[in-house]
Amino acid sequence: MPLALHPLQAARQPLLHAVRTLSPLRRYLHIEPLSSHEIRRRFLDYFAQNNHTIIPSSSVVPHNDTSLLFVNAGMNQFKHVLLGTEAPRHRRVANSQKCIRAGGKHNDLDEVGIDGRHHTYFEMLGNWSFGDYFQQEACTLAYHLLVDVYKLPKSRLYMTYFGGDPEVGLQPDFECREIWRRIGIAESQIIPRGMDDNFWAMGEEGPCGPCTEIHYSMDGSAEKLLEVWNLVFMQFNRTRRGILEPLTVKHVDTGMGLERLVAVLQDRQSNYDTDLFLPLLQKIPELAGTPPYQSKFGDDDHEGLFTAYRILADHARMCTVAIADGMLPDKRGAPYVLRKVLRRAALTWSNKLHSDPLLWAQLVPTIVQSLGPAYPEIAEREAVIQATITKEIEDFKGIVDKGTKAFGKIWQKLENKMVLPADKMYELYRQFGVPEEVIFGLARGRNMGCDAKGFYLLMDQERVKSREGLARKKEQVAQ
Ligand code: SER
Repeated sequence: MPLALHPLQAARQPLLHAVRTLSPLRRYLHIEPLSSHEIRRRFLDYFAQNNHTIIPSSSVVPHNDTSLLFVNAGMNQFKHVLLGTEAPRHRRVANSQKCIRAGGKHNDLDEVGIDGRHHTYFEMLGNWSFGDYFQQEACTLAYHLLVDVYKLPKSRLYMTYFGGDPEVGLQPDFECREIWRRIGIAESQIIPRGMDDNFWAMGEEGPCGPCTEIHYSMDGSAEKLLEVWNLVFMQFNRTRRGILEPLTVKHVDTGMGLERLVAVLQDRQSNYDTDLFLPLLQKIPELAGTPPYQSKFGDDDHEGLFTAYRILADHARMCTVAIADGMLPDKRGAPYVLRKVLRRAALTWSNKLHSDPLLWAQLVPTIVQSLGPAYPEIAEREAVIQATITKEIEDFKGIVDKGTKAFGKIWQKLENKMVLPADKMYELYRQFGVPEEVIFGLARGRNMGCDAKGFYLLMDQERVKSREGLARKKEQVAQ
């Protein structure tokens, strides 16, 4: 008879199971997956051995750049070096950069939890050459790291290169194709792609250039490719008018998402099934007293419970990192995005886990354990992070209580309880001061849709009216 498991042990089962379940090939070869710490460390050691200076991650709060809400790529801190307006301190650099993609050009907020790949917070491993090596060495360095250090089979690697664009007057990057051939990549695994995929730009303006992407085949075929590394050959500055001005010096800027690389090396289909997320996905149901995590997506995740766990784990990492870097939730700009993400997590916790969202703050120590060794600022500020999240959620609970009461009254009088009409949303927003994300959350909690379009229209009308009112007042004062 099997022994009964203590509830806590039972909750741990899927995690242990996930870590132990290796692919048949790995089991046969007795290869234990590398931990995320080891994967990050090997990347940095490799580039140090190849004469790169390892520099710390910059803060996720952009320094001296109003075009960004958050640092969203490893190259952000080198923007001026790439444009030639700042001298590089080193010619070869590598690092592991904390990045946030929530708001702005690269925004992944709405994809989080739905698939196994998108995150608001992620780490980008990168190496740079500032006027030093170019395509040949960049491709060779990347190839040897993947094949010789991480031991990925060459047959699983697919390379894309820039296929040119006559409209902008750019030729295909045959040089890059040739380099991959010489390295020994099979012809069928070198693929040309257009502007959208293989031309990387930081934003509407700024440094940009054609890129080559390294993809890993998840099943050995060309059908299931996962992009792991982007090697950008920086050679233009895109001006405000959209003109590509050649840079006087060419540079290399590469970026590889740590979470994806870890998923590949730990042989997982989803980034969430790696040691970067599993401790959090285990802790969430332990705290809330809900069923243990299962790696289910879309229709397989009937109640959306496991999607909720993924959102909660992702958002906890993002908020922890942003607060560690000195950001506080507030009314405008990036601090408002932080507030929105925090509130979204709190609502997800109460609506999906039916538990007190203050418990969500207790994920901070688990994140500190995972990220603290690589980013000491996170460990140093643990108490501040937890206190900030707790305070913000307490305040938010007050707002939600007020909003819930007002919503309850409105809901009782509604004839159609499928969709919350725009005027009722507006009433909650204007008369009761309920923030829009709370209105959406309250409706979701009752399985209702929202007339969001109508609501935004009413908000726009109000904005126009108040602008007109302001203009009239100014005119009166001037007369
Ligand atoms: N800047 C490129 C990217 O973010 C490569 O680092 O993908």
